[in-house]
Amino acid sequence: MAFSSVRIVLVCSLALTTQITCTSPGTFSIDYKNDCFLKDGESFRYISGSIHYSRIPQIYWKDRLLKMYMAGLNAIQTYIPWNYHEPVPDQYDFSGDRDLGNFLHLAQEVGLLVILRPGPYICAEWDMGGLPAWLLKKKDIVLRTSDTDYIAAVDKWMGKLLPMIKPFLYQNGGPIITVQVENEYGSYFACDYNYLRHLTQLFRSHLGPEVVLFTTDGAGLGYLRCGALQGLYATVDFGPGGNVSASFAAQRYVEPHGPLVNSEFYTGWLDHWGERHSTVSSAIVAKSLNEILAVGANVNLYMFIGGTNFGYWNGANSPYAPQPTSYDYDAPLSEAGDLTDKYFSIRDVIRMYNKIPEGPLPPSTPKYAYASVKMTKLQTVSEAVDVLSHSGPVKSTFPLSFSEMDQYFGFILYRTKLPVDCSKPVPLSSPLNGVHDRAYVSINGVASGILERDKSITINITGTAGSQVDILVENMGRVNYGKGINDFKGLVSNLTLGSEVLRNWLVYSLSVDEAVSKGLLRAGASQVPSSQLSTPAFYTGSFSIPSGIPQLPQDTYIQFPDWGKGQLWINGFNLGRYWPSRGPQLTLYVPVHVLSTSAPNNVTVLELEGAPCSQGACTVEFTCTPVLNAMGTDGRPLFNKEDLS
Ligand SMILES: *[C@@H]1O[C@H](CO)[C@@H](O)[C@H](O)[C@H]1NC(C)=O
Ligand SMILES: *[C@@H]1O[C@H](CO)[C@@H](O)[C@H](O)[C@H]1NC(C)=O
Ligand SMILES: *[C@@H]1O[C@H](CO)[C@@H](O)[C@H](O)[C@H]1NC(C)=O
Ligand SMILES: *[C@@H]1O[C@H](CO)[C@@H](O)[C@H](O)[C@H]1NC(C)=O
Repeated sequence: MAFSSVRIVLVCSLALTTQITCTSPGTFSIDYKNDCFLKDGESFRYISGSIHYSRIPQIYWKDRLLKMYMAGLNAIQTYIPWNYHEPVPDQYDFSGDRDLGNFLHLAQEVGLLVILRPGPYICAEWDMGGLPAWLLKKKDIVLRTSDTDYIAAVDKWMGKLLPMIKPFLYQNGGPIITVQVENEYGSYFACDYNYLRHLTQLFRSHLGPEVVLFTTDGAGLGYLRCGALQGLYATVDFGPGGNVSASFAAQRYVEPHGPLVNSEFYTGWLDHWGERHSTVSSAIVAKSLNEILAVGANVNLYMFIGGTNFGYWNGANSPYAPQPTSYDYDAPLSEAGDLTDKYFSIRDVIRMYNKIPEGPLPPSTPKYAYASVKMTKLQTVSEAVDVLSHSGPVKSTFPLSFSEMDQYFGFILYRTKLPVDCSKPVPLSSPLNGVHDRAYVSINGVASGILERDKSITINITGTAGSQVDILVENMGRVNYGKGINDFKGLVSNLTLGSEVLRNWLVYSLSVDEAVSKGLLRAGASQVPSSQLSTPAFYTGSFSIPSGIPQLPQDTYIQFPDWGKGQLWINGFNLGRYWPSRGPQLTLYVPVHVLSTSAPNNVTVLELEGAPCSQGACTVEFTCTPVLNAMGTDGRPLFNKEDLS
């Protein structure tokens, strides 16, 4: 190893000799004199890894935490996504995969401390950076500022959350050593110190005077200017390959004394649909990690395991670029929790500073390629609209957005009639780029094109006056970073036909997940022999776990040969979006707990563009190997990390 002879010089002096250990069950604070943390009266530094419980099924939490512990980490860092726990105002969900208390208990049981990041904004490549989309009911709300309606909602949420957190603080016998306030606030345009001051008081009032509160910002004075605030310990984040001392110099500028902390040391990077899969070499990660540890700094590896954006939870960047279902991140533990070469490289670096726990390493989980599943067509969305939409349509002269319909995720159907004959092709346009985010257009049940935000704002259509125009609009995930987080969905501006604004809409709120899990979808009308593009439709198939193999069921991956784009459920569990024609992700991760051994497993697909079923059998296929790095057939230019910084 290139760095095996490095001398370990801790900036933080480890003189503990005659200190009397504290009397209380636990203390955790900042030692400004010795530039380090102080845990139970002793110098302490953490080597932590990020794990987002919201991206991992609860059954696997312990396995992943144990693998993190066995890598030599002494802490984990996790975000709390507000919108995951308060899907509609005043309805809180902390059960099952959302059981935060259970997650914190498990971390402690495994032997890991916790660095908690409760937001309210978290970024995290998560829908709207974790903020609930119902905040957008106030159309001109200024998120992440002193806006009174925003603050009222934050106060209420934190009034629920923080008292739940309090018993888990280290001072109270729990694993939580530090709590972050907001997230990279210095990167946001608003620079509202009153907002940060308000959050500080709010956190203090619920959590008490002792807990270490901190902020995280990019390692540059430009970020720290608006992100740091007295009373909140300022930390920085930066990736591998850069100048570690220059990055920490930025932190030292605002915190002349106290521990050095890199709160997000990037082990990999995020992906977008249509861009190349991001990878970062283990060697570069190991080299920079060693430099960070050598100066005695605290570090959190972001991500240690990325996991999966199940359902509709992915976020997006601007110009509009949604992130795919996998949040593998090229992290040391794969999306499925498997050990990678990077895991062992990182462990080898940590080993030079800390003792690695003894004992067997939990192995990667086995995968099984079940038989391929023959899919048959059910109703189209248009045919099933009565089943999908409980309350029936809302009549409106002009289109209504998702928040105006009180629906926040998934799909909405907009229906109107052609006001005039279009015997020659006439442009159907969204002149203000108001299709958020993708619209599947059909005339009298025949697909006629796709509009896409920032990519395609006009298509030509034909049809006779009075023909039914159905436009299914997909919310592909809200922007999670920057000014664009007020990301309204649906048709957020008018559509025009030629020069005329289309009017007199029926707007259908759709409960697709409910219809799928209750098995309400029926066989459709006979298949319209179609060209390449077909109208959005459901497909179903089933498969059984082979009997006589005692190790089954196991995790698996599913792929969609020659399918277009859509959403996948198995036994009603929404596994996320697939889009092999755009890539780079071809397979979706299927964790074992969604599978059943006692009944046939039901696979349901909502295919938005066209299934390969006109050529006879169409199948989805299971495989043991994930494919996250393929380019789709309409692949876009290669992705540069520098583009995002
Ligand atoms: C790294 O930054 C430090 C402090 O800003 C500077 O003194 C040093 O020359 C830099 N090292 C390299 C290799 O650029
Ligand atoms: C629509 O049709 C017109 C006339 O045929 C053509 O010039 C134009 O390029 C078409 N637009 C699109 C978006 O296909
Ligand atoms: C649609 O157009 C009408 C008439 O021009 C206008 O009053 C309305 O505000 C527009 N709606 C949106 C969402 O842009
Ligand atoms: C799949 O659907 C069938 C028919 O509705 C049902 O009998 C079966 O229990 C379902 N399987 C699972 C695992 O829910």
